[in-house]
Amino acid sequence: MCGIVGYVGNKQAYPILIKGLQRLEYRGYDSAGIAILNGVLNVYKRKGKVSELESFVKSKDVDGRIGIAHTRWATHGEPTDENAHPHSSQSKDLSIIHNGIIENYDVLRNELINRGYEFHSDTDTEVLIYLIEDIKKNEKVDLGEAIRIALNQVVGAYAIVVISKDEPDRLIAAKKGSPLVIGIGDDDFYIASDATPIVEYTKNVVYLDDEEVAYIQKGEKLKIKTIKNKDKTPYVTKLEMNLSQLEKGGFEHFMLKEIYEQPRSIRDSLRGRLNADKGIVSLGGIIDYEQKMVNANRIIIIACGTSWHAGLVGEYLFEDLARTPVEVEYASEFRYRNPVIYEDDIVIAISQSGETADTLAAIELAKSKGATIIGICNVVGSSIARATDAGSYTHAGPEIGVASTKAFTAQVTILCLMALRIAQLKGTLSKSRFRQILYELESIPEKVEKTLQVSKKVIEISEQYQNVRNFLYLGRGYNFPVALEGALKLKEISYIHAEGYPAAEMKHGPIALIDEEMPVVFIAPNRGIYEKVISNIQEVKARKGKVIAIVTEGDESVRKLADHVIEIPETEELLVPLLATIPLQKLSYHIAVMRGCNVDQPRNLAKSVTVE
Ligand code: M6R
Repeated sequence: MCGIVGYVGNKQAYPILIKGLQRLEYRGYDSAGIAILNGVLNVYKRKGKVSELESFVKSKDVDGRIGIAHTRWATHGEPTDENAHPHSSQSKDLSIIHNGIIENYDVLRNELINRGYEFHSDTDTEVLIYLIEDIKKNEKVDLGEAIRIALNQVVGAYAIVVISKDEPDRLIAAKKGSPLVIGIGDDDFYIASDATPIVEYTKNVVYLDDEEVAYIQKGEKLKIKTIKNKDKTPYVTKLEMNLSQLEKGGFEHFMLKEIYEQPRSIRDSLRGRLNADKGIVSLGGIIDYEQKMVNANRIIIIACGTSWHAGLVGEYLFEDLARTPVEVEYASEFRYRNPVIYEDDIVIAISQSGETADTLAAIELAKSKGATIIGICNVVGSSIARATDAGSYTHAGPEIGVASTKAFTAQVTILCLMALRIAQLKGTLSKSRFRQILYELESIPEKVEKTLQVSKKVIEISEQYQNVRNFLYLGRGYNFPVALEGALKLKEISYIHAEGYPAAEMKHGPIALIDEEMPVVFIAPNRGIYEKVISNIQEVKARKGKVIAIVTEGDESVRKLADHVIEIPETEELLVPLLATIPLQKLSYHIAVMRGCNVDQPRNLAKSVTVE
């Protein structure tokens, strides 16, 4: 959560910083602020979105070639002007932006209060900048050294950038647990929480590692030290993303653009990894670990939110195809519940952002017990991608909308490839069945294209149900996770309460909710235990519930019962999630738009959850 940006060089800093904040607004948007140095250190901050900060600074002095900026997702303290970043030191000579949480802030704050410091915000960040100034003054060290010493006293997570009135050409940045990227231009430096504010200016970047401090001085080479004072050589990598991927490309919202990108993103996930004619599935990133995966007695999948739903599909895939037992765990539960982890366990960590704090912590726990960690991440170079032993990128491209869409289908695609590859090596599928699935998987992008054409129907349904208070989503087998994902999409962007359930569980409780007001979305393709799902539909109809059914093209049985049907192309049961998810994404999108909700930046949410 929270987005941070910094710039030092020969250009005007303000336009770079504001544009950077707009790109990072998906990480938090309850307040924003900026500090620019030009002889004086001007700090402006405002509750609300980046646009409000922009209006606020219109008549202000934003001249300067060095500055820092922040967009916040509140942890300590409400979203107010005072709690917005940057935070200044007591003397106002220093300013800091911070993403993360200082866990021992209370102890540090009390110590500083005893020494006469007065605080003006409720944040943990203000404590850190006071501490830095206190060390600088009392230990008579320079700013870089004061920051390094202060960070040794801090417990928690941070990505910070500090600017000083006395250092017109230098920024100091550091990180632990929260991401930080430094872009290296011809004669300038760009700093940000991810590469999206940087890619427009340079493709050369350095990802800071945990407990590293970067000394960023205009006109000099980047210097990095650990907080234990060990010199490190900056490792420069090339960004692969391009600017057009970060723009809306004519769509009203990023979410809609990303929904429509799915034929492309799934193709990119499959590219070079699948050849049905030759019977080849190959994931370069895990080749060295395939044998371990074959020999594993079990796989544990850890993830959060939508990625956890993809993990559930993964459980069905690995058990069904490769006959490997799988447990799917919420990373936030796994990390704290003293789980049994064996050295021969394979842990698959799934994350779009690659920065989710709980998933990272669960990885560290599994690593400490000797398990092998395989990652499925979208963001190249992200913390999770770097923390794993091996893995496969989803190649879905940047996902900006807070509601995850194309990342989910890309994750399922990768899980499908992994399960198929392990099944092939274990010999748990016949050659002909293996080929059959490969051909079908190859045809999925085209079928997704076709599925995307369901707009008219989905809009009609959205119009009819936009004002209801509850929704139920039901599915069985591979479509149970799809039901969960459909419900999550609706609640997070439209604020309608929605629950996903295995269809047969309905009669153990949720059936009590059903009356003529209650829309029930069934994922009911003509595969798997289709007849059983039809019985569940009948149970809903008998109680006058309204049924919206996702069915296979040409289906007649469900059509007779349902109030509305949305057709998807015929496919293998195990690939239905890749198609059935699409109309559910569109349903939630249209309902949210009709309700006037902020689709790309729903309230209280952030794209990457870097706090636990
Ligand atoms: O970046 P990750 O995949 O690790 O994020 C996990 C969840 O925070 C994320 O899927 C969240 O649930 C989305 N808002 C769902 O649309």
